[in-house]
Amino acid sequence: MIDSASERRVLADRLVQAGALKSPAWRAAVEAVPRELFLNPGVFLHEGGQWRPVTAVGSDPAEWVRIAYTPDTLTTQLDGHLTADQVSGPVAGLPTSSSTTPGLVLSMIESLDVEDGHQVLEIGTGTGYSAALMCHRLGEDNVTTIEVDPGVAARADAALETAGYSTWTVTGDGLLGHPRRAPYDRVVATCAVRRIPYAWVRQTKPGGIILATVGSWANGAGLAQVTVNEDGTAEGRIIGRASFMQARSQAATPVAGDLSARTAYADSERQTKVSPLMMDEWMPAFLTQLAAPGAQLVRAATSEGAQLLYLFDPERESFAEFVADGSGWRVRQGGPVALWDAVEDALTAWQTAGGPDITAVRLHISKECHTYWIGGQQITTRTSSHWIGDKSALRWQHQLA
Ligand SMILES: C[S@@+](CC[C@H](N)C(=O)[O-])C[C@H]1O[C@@H](n2cnc3c(N)ncnc32)[C@H](O)[C@@H]1O
Repeated sequence: MIDSASERRVLADRLVQAGALKSPAWRAAVEAVPRELFLNPGVFLHEGGQWRPVTAVGSDPAEWVRIAYTPDTLTTQLDGHLTADQVSGPVAGLPTSSSTTPGLVLSMIESLDVEDGHQVLEIGTGTGYSAALMCHRLGEDNVTTIEVDPGVAARADAALETAGYSTWTVTGDGLLGHPRRAPYDRVVATCAVRRIPYAWVRQTKPGGIILATVGSWANGAGLAQVTVNEDGTAEGRIIGRASFMQARSQAATPVAGDLSARTAYADSERQTKVSPLMMDEWMPAFLTQLAAPGAQLVRAATSEGAQLLYLFDPERESFAEFVADGSGWRVRQGGPVALWDAVEDALTAWQTAGGPDITAVRLHISKECHTYWIGGQQITTRTSSHWIGDKSALRWQHQLA
């Protein structure tokens, strides 16, 4: 086995330069934990629209170490079961487990603001690499990590043992947290959630921090950082963009196939006020998910090749169909919820407010309700003061009870 100490130092230098790594304690963790130990049996590299399997055993050791220290996310499982040792050539598939890019892992765990003795719960063990970094920093007894996929969990557990950490690795649905070891000082999720489960709030000590990616679209998710209050609520804000695979139990079945049945009965048709193509941008995509939770953006084309765009909310049997008409877009909406009306209100209010960044979004979580807003009394800068009060299109409440 090749000693990767110099690659780890280079990785740490790169992470410092990128601003992802700040504290000496986390730098020591990056320099100590060999990422290659966590990539067994291998990885899939995305090349030419397919996934090329590369296994640890079949590779030249120097090449394997080079791959392990690329700054990219390394996919370790496709379609919920396939590992690199099970195929001999490039395959298609959807990533379902990975070693997240070290830049994102480190910037997230730096944002956790951990202190010695803190108990941390990680949701989404994946390869176990991020859990190993936390074990190095906090000690193995202070880290609990949950992975939903039994095979992935077993491999991570073995890798953590090889790296010298006998931490508490749980196989199960991390959306439920892990009550047996609660309460925690910090909860961090490395899979995206549609909303932060109240179980995590309940299992976090007052003053404790939860960090998780909120959103179910690949291009419109926000990294939420909330602090738990004495009264069992939590509040905080979106601190940046992040992109993670969806928590498995929350992953929506993609709407596909013949769309004509889903759009057969429209209740209204009109010209749009803003282009639906805005939803390709990150912040508008995030706002769309706040305004129309559960909606999916779907693309298609007419038999003549004209572009078609849809919002579908299968659970609420609602749709918005967009057709380019030369000068702009027409929208047909059907079902109990006028999806585009809600999204368009949010997008126009956001534009009127000067198009603030995702980091302007605040959130409050109670057992019954998740509230997101931009502006309001909590924001005191002058630029935001004109949104206060009357812009209800910049406030979204997801009532659960
Ligand atoms: C991006 S990977 C985690 C990366 C990991 N932290 C690392 O450093 O290797 C996301 C993982 O979350 C897991 N996952 C998805 N839904 C989950 C859930 N509901 N509970 C626990 N783990 C889940 C996936 O199986 C996947 O292994």
